[in-house]
Amino acid sequence: MKKRFHTRQLTFRQLETFKEVAERLSVTEAAAALHLAQPTISTQIARITSTVGVPLFEHIGKRLFLTDMGRDLLATSRELFDAIDRLEMRLAQRAGLATGSLRICAVTTAKYLVPAILGPFCKRYPGIEVQFHIGNRAEVVARIEANLDDLYVFSHLPENFDLVALPFADNPLVVVAPYDHPLAGQESIQWEQLREDRMLVREVGSGTRHAIEQHLASKGERLKRTMTIASNEAIKESIAAGLGISILSRHSLRHITSRRLVELDVTGFPIHSKWYLVYLRSRVNSPPVNAFLEHSALLQTKPAL
Ligand code: PGA
Repeated sequence: MKKRFHTRQLTFRQLETFKEVAERLSVTEAAAALHLAQPTISTQIARITSTVGVPLFEHIGKRLFLTDMGRDLLATSRELFDAIDRLEMRLAQRAGLATGSLRICAVTTAKYLVPAILGPFCKRYPGIEVQFHIGNRAEVVARIEANLDDLYVFSHLPENFDLVALPFADNPLVVVAPYDHPLAGQESIQWEQLREDRMLVREVGSGTRHAIEQHLASKGERLKRTMTIASNEAIKESIAAGLGISILSRHSLRHITSRRLVELDVTGFPIHSKWYLVYLRSRVNSPPVNAFLEHSALLQTKPAL
């Protein structure tokens, strides 16, 4: 099809010049902004005008004004440059994501969930080197204090830090017993009925332990007959071996292959908590960190709990 207009002959350079002049309504100011001589700008504007075929500016007295066609061309130029800016942003992001690193530190309970999010992320961004550190709540808090990682995963947020915390999954804490516990299968068990059971609890510094103590304190109760075991895995083995019962994240039971453990239906449980993806507000997040935040928001894991 024969084109009546020659606008496609306009170059980006010319449009950039036109946009500068049109936005400032001053050739002098546009020349300064573009580091070009005034006559160069005037020549460019003359060429653009001749390509478009209608006047883009008009002089009234000493002042410069846009014509209707000039306003149209300004709007089109803005759209074009916005699109180019977006393209450049994506290119920069891609360049930043081809390599780079991501350091995540999670409380031990979250280790059952974070890998499910990291898996597809690492597949999508194979160039990003991921370091995944796990510790109990006290260890993770110490790492925040030393500013060692990009992101942290907690369910019981520490105070005293200016944090951005994005909730990303529920973390219900449930009562777990061996399958042959006398109350297994019963409904609405009262906490008092478990008085004789030894409670296997995580170490001091564990967020799970902290949450349980807080929950019981709010009901005027406290932990009695305890045995401290500093690992969720060891606690599960110990329950199965008949050492006692425990309160654990329901997520920690998800991959249990044996049927040696049961969740007891105790009134007032589960204790409701949530995991948060957390970072220090003062940090400037790198492209890999932003990509992970975006990725985990998309994947929002809400397992059927
Ligand atoms: P933790 O987990 O018991 O491994 O410290 C705490 C939490 O879920 O915040």
